[in-house]
Amino acid sequence: MAISSSVQIKSVSHWFGKGTMRRKVLNSISFDIAPGEVVLLTGPSGCGKTTLLTLIGALRKVQEGDLLVFGNQLRGSRRKTRQELRRHIGMIFQGHNLLRCLTAEQNVQMGADLLPGTSYRSRRDQAREWLREVGLQDELRKLPHDLSGGQKQRVAIARALAARPKLLLADEPTAALDSVTGREVVDLLKKLAREQASSVLIVTHDPRILDVADRLLNMEDGCLIP
Ligand SMILES: Nc1ncnc2c1ncn2[C@@H]1O[C@H](COP(=O)(O)OP(=O)(O)O)[C@@H](O)[C@H]1O
Ligand SMILES: [Mg+2]
Repeated sequence: MAISSSVQIKSVSHWFGKGTMRRKVLNSISFDIAPGEVVLLTGPSGCGKTTLLTLIGALRKVQEGDLLVFGNQLRGSRRKTRQELRRHIGMIFQGHNLLRCLTAEQNVQMGADLLPGTSYRSRRDQAREWLREVGLQDELRKLPHDLSGGQKQRVAIARALAARPKLLLADEPTAALDSVTGREVVDLLKKLAREQASSVLIVTHDPRILDVADRLLNMEDGCLIP
């Protein structure tokens, strides 16, 4: 079967809580993302954006509906399938998730460690190159502790890009950045999408970056607004 979409979502619903506390947070979501496409997802806080992103990133079990990533069905999938898929998915989440005891350069190098057949040296050179792209060439040796919030976010972005993912999921990636850096970062994500035919899904509140999108999706109260 030819896979024409990186992500195919059909009638995906999701609930949190048990018994009387059970609450529907995603209501029959359907959309596709094509290879090389940049899709922006907006919507008020609490409408279900992060939940949807973690489902697509194979970090959560799909409860209802079809969710295919690179043609692999996630509903009812095996742990091994999800692990394998996650190798091709770059994730930039709020909170950065940098390793505290590693320098900026080492954190980014970890991303490139997933690439097969590359030497230590070329991975290190690539890490430096990505850090230069996000404007951190002078902070290579710093630990996360010594970086600002915006700098940490840029390290997290460089790390995700270093793995050359086929799908990149970013949750409010520009929230902690000034407008110039925010612009540079989304342009970089777009460049990755173009050059490597990667798909990019960005959750954002940032009106300054909406024009980067090939397509805008709007969510409200667990539903996509047509
Ligand atoms: N782990 C969880 N357990 C229970 N409820 C959750 C959990 N995560 C999120 N929620 C709730 O689900 C809804 C959607 O949350 P979320 O996907 O984080 O929205 P958004 O990212 O759009 O702000 C919110 O009402 C939130 O409180
Ligand atoms: Mg969120």
